[in-house]
This record gives sequence, structure tokens and C-alpha cells, in this order.
Amino acid sequence: MARKKINGECEMEEEGEEMREDLESRESTEIGADLTIEDLPGVGAATAEKLQAAGFDTLMAVAVATPGELTDIGGVSEPTARKMIQFAREKLKMGFISGDELLKKRELVEKIRTGSEALDKLLGGGLETGAITEAFGEFGSGKTQIAHLLCVRCQLLSPENVAVFIDTENTFRPERIVQLAKGAGLDPEQALRNIKVARAYNSDHQMLLAEKIDELIKKGLKVKLVVVDSLTAHFRAEFIGRGTLADRQQKLNKHMHALMKLADTYNLVVYVTNQVMAKPDVFFGDPTQAIGGHIVAHASTFRIYLRKGKKGSRVAKLVDSPALPEGEAAFYVEADGLRDI
Ligand code: GTP
Ligand code: MG
Repeated sequence: MARKKINGECEMEEEGEEMREDLESRESTEIGADLTIEDLPGVGAATAEKLQAAGFDTLMAVAVATPGELTDIGGVSEPTARKMIQFAREKLKMGFISGDELLKKRELVEKIRTGSEALDKLLGGGLETGAITEAFGEFGSGKTQIAHLLCVRCQLLSPENVAVFIDTENTFRPERIVQLAKGAGLDPEQALRNIKVARAYNSDHQMLLAEKIDELIKKGLKVKLVVVDSLTAHFRAEFIGRGTLADRQQKLNKHMHALMKLADTYNLVVYVTNQVMAKPDVFFGDPTQAIGGHIVAHASTFRIYLRKGKKGSRVAKLVDSPALPEGEAAFYVEADGLRDI
């Protein structure tokens, strides 16, 4: 139902629809995929609609959720949430894919290098395809600069690579791309042609743009990078006050799922930026935390905390990653790119 509504709202073209059918038929060959969320225990039509609206539109989405994420949508008790997750996991016979198959999948992973050796090393060689990397930090910490840099440097992997930049704060600057392209030894005109920028005017628009990216890919663009800068600003501005928190988190969850699906389906890099807010109850350490709470944290594969360092430098700290040690890298942001210290 939710899917129909989305199609109606964005008037998706025929080919987008065909693509969805492709994806669906692929999913339906998996065990248990003929079941829908309405088959979950304790889920009637009303709850199914809420689940769908929050992005939990397949058994898989429920199977990988936490009970807290499901109770957040409202009208679902914690024991019911646990039962739903348990049921979805059993039906999908999840979790078993042989190690060698996984290794083969990992061999397809590409990495966009940042040009700073220290930062690349911290990230295990660069930003990985098939994953979401989140950069969070205060204003001026370098989140948007790195976004520009990645748009250019993803083109070093292949000259056909295209970057999609969803700009929510009107901070995309083509002039900056020209400088960075020269720094990377690329033709600035060509570099600019390979970047598709869309201004997002509110959170719904932002979500819609993300959902339309597979149409671009279907049209033949080799999208290797999707930037959302900033991921959370619209959500933060539109959902004010405690009463709206659950709604905000649901929409953010849906958005993150759409981005994860893109990263996974098309083996591309998703880079999102996130602001921080003051955490008044912290007396030791850094009193800031990322917006978006556990939804964003949980959905991001890699999380980088950026802050201003000494003498105008920037310091990146890897705070979350599946297989890399936590650590820090310092560098300067310069006209033609990042420079190690
Ligand atoms: P918010 O979006 O406000 O949260 O901040 P942000 O983390 O996105 O900051 P951004 O990436 O825009 O960083 C801005 C900083 O980058 C500026 O304060 C400059 O210090 C630096 N910067 C931007 N352009 C240049 C440049 O061409 N040369 C140099 N040396 N520094 C630059
Ligand atoms: Mg910015």
C-alpha cells in the first residue's frame, strides 16, 4: 500500500516500476519471502500500515530490527515486537551464507580514497562500497568538504563513475569541485558533468530523491557515490519537541533503509553527514552526540567523528566500524584536497 502511494506521489516512470518488479521477483526466490508483514503475529492491517510507513515493509526489515525500533512506531508492545522479530527470523532462516560466498562478495568492494593517507588508513583503505559512512561533527568540522572531495575522487576509480549529491543546506559549490578536480588531476569540466546535484527542500523531498536514484542507475548512469548532506538537518528542523520524536525516527529509519538498499544493491558508497547536539549530562569527555539517535547509528556501517584540531587541522575519529580498530587521523583541508600533517 505504501509503495503504491510512493509511486503515485513521484509519478515514477514505467522503467522504475519494472525495476521494482525485478527486485521483488529476486527477493521472492528467498525462503519465506512469499510471506508479508501482515503474516507476522500480532500484526493487523493498522499495524502493518504503520510498519510500512516506518520502512519495515518486508520480513527482512523486521528480522533485522531491534524491539525498540518496532515499539517506536507506536501500538506495538515490547513482547509483541520480540515475537514479530523472532517469527521473521525463523521464516527467513536467516544468517547462513557460507564464508567463501561472503568472501567473494567482499572481493567486489571498492574503496574511494580521500587523498589523506592517515584518513584512508583509519578507514581501512578508503570509504567502502556497499556501506553507509556517516560523518558527524560540529559546524565547520569538514563534513561538507569531504563530501565534495568524494564526489571528485570516486571518479578516480573509473572515469564513468557518477556521484549523486543530495543537498539539503545549499552548500554544494561547483567552484570547489573545480579546485578539487584539479588537485586530483582530473578535468574539472568532466568532473562536474559526473556529479548530479539535487536540492532537497524538506525531509519528504529528501526521501523522495533518495528513492529516485535507482531510476538514474536504470537509465545507465554508473552511480558510485550517493551523498546526503545533511542527513538530519531537515528532520531536526521539522520535528520539534518530544512528542514528534517517534515520527521523526520512523521516517529517518525508512530513509536509512532506502540508502542501505542502494548501497547494497548497486555496490556504491553512501556518505551522509550529521550534526551534533550538546549533551548536557556529560561532565567528562566530549559533551556532544550525533543527531538521529540509535536509528542513524545502527544503520551506518562506519561512523566518523570530525572535530577541529590544532592549527586549523581536522581530526577524524573512527567510532564505529565492523572490523577496524578505533583510532584517529589528523589532516588539513586545503584548496586542492586533504593534506596529511
Ligand atoms: P556544517 O555544515 O556547518 O555543520 O559544517 P561542515 O562540517 O560541513 O563544515 P565544512 O565541511 O563546510 O567545513 C568548512 C571549513 O572548511 C571552513 O571553515 C574552512 O576552514 C575549510 N575550507 C573550506 N574550503 C576551503 C578551501 O578552499 N581551502 C581551505 N584551506 N579550507 C577550506
Ligand atoms: Mg556542511
